[in-house]
Amino acid sequence: MMKHESPETMLPILQDQYGRIKRKLRISVTDRCNFKCVYCMPEHPEWMKKQDLLSFEALLVFCQYMVKQGIENIRITGGEPLMRKGVVHFIRDLQSLRAIGLKRISITTNGHYLAKYAEQLKQAGLDDLNISLDSLDADQFKQLTKKDLAPVLSGIQAAQRVGLPFKINCVLIKGQNEDQILPMVNWAKQQNIPLRFIEFMPLDGDQHWTDQAVVSEADILAQLQPHYDIHVLQQQHEPARQYRLDDQYTIGIISTITHSFCGDCDRIRLTAQGELYNCLFAQQGLNIKPYLQRAIKEKMFQQLDQQIKPYIWHKAKGYHAIQNQHVRKISMHMLGG
Ligand code: 5AD
Ligand code: SF4
Repeated sequence: MMKHESPETMLPILQDQYGRIKRKLRISVTDRCNFKCVYCMPEHPEWMKKQDLLSFEALLVFCQYMVKQGIENIRITGGEPLMRKGVVHFIRDLQSLRAIGLKRISITTNGHYLAKYAEQLKQAGLDDLNISLDSLDADQFKQLTKKDLAPVLSGIQAAQRVGLPFKINCVLIKGQNEDQILPMVNWAKQQNIPLRFIEFMPLDGDQHWTDQAVVSEADILAQLQPHYDIHVLQQQHEPARQYRLDDQYTIGIISTITHSFCGDCDRIRLTAQGELYNCLFAQQGLNIKPYLQRAIKEKMFQQLDQQIKPYIWHKAKGYHAIQNQHVRKISMHMLGG
């Protein structure tokens, strides 16, 4: 079937061939980061050229188009999104899209600059944050990220102070930080901070991932079992499975490797230079930049539409369907978590 005849281009919504409707858009605004997390950054990153990044003006037009197609949540990611100048302003500009259906604006950050930006982000209308925190041990934290723990803890305090809701994301790697499971849970429970453990996925920059390095959902539960009475909760439309501890506190576990949630996936991702990815593990992105620039210039979205809809339609079933294909040169620092 020729592309312009495909049924998916007729739909006013973003839907894939398995009936999954896209409601969440994640936009990476930079691939740069001041951290070097072992599970993400390559040892020698080749940064995108600044002139190749989509401008915030173009991104705003793109977001407006996407919200009209049913996107309800926008998450700004990186690299480290707070390293791109103008990001707070962009969040302020996104507020105008609430009138046409945008419900939530979030950011995923390493927390390092959060003490400086928390108040401005709140003022700009940010709804919530995900903050990465993989260890409470300063030495281990440095080993994992090549940066200091203290600024991140100050960032977390700043978010609490200004009343920005947040979740902590903790990626576990065998032999590196699995001893943090209990300390992290105790720390988060004590302050009633939402915490999610994430299984290490094969998205690290230098492709050192092996399944031996994965701390699985079962491993996490086994470590917690002696200390807590644990009940699994009904999984919502969410990648994390929720567990209730002692009937007092809930943690989440995102287990892409051992229990993929791809069957419910409602996300799509855009890299900072304008490549759309219909899946974290997709082999091929779609470069929307020329179509977006043309749409902006001519105020005509038909061509952009005719590119995006079929690309989303052909999204593969999920991680287990595509994991064994040949390696590709895109990692989490470009796809934004
Ligand atoms: N596996 C799992 N999660 C990852 N993230 C980045 N790289 C990986 C990976 N290889 C997630 C972490 C981090 C966020 C930015 O992206 O949750 O906090
Ligand atoms: Fe930076 Fe986040 Fe990647 Fe760590 S996971 S290197 S903080 S982008």
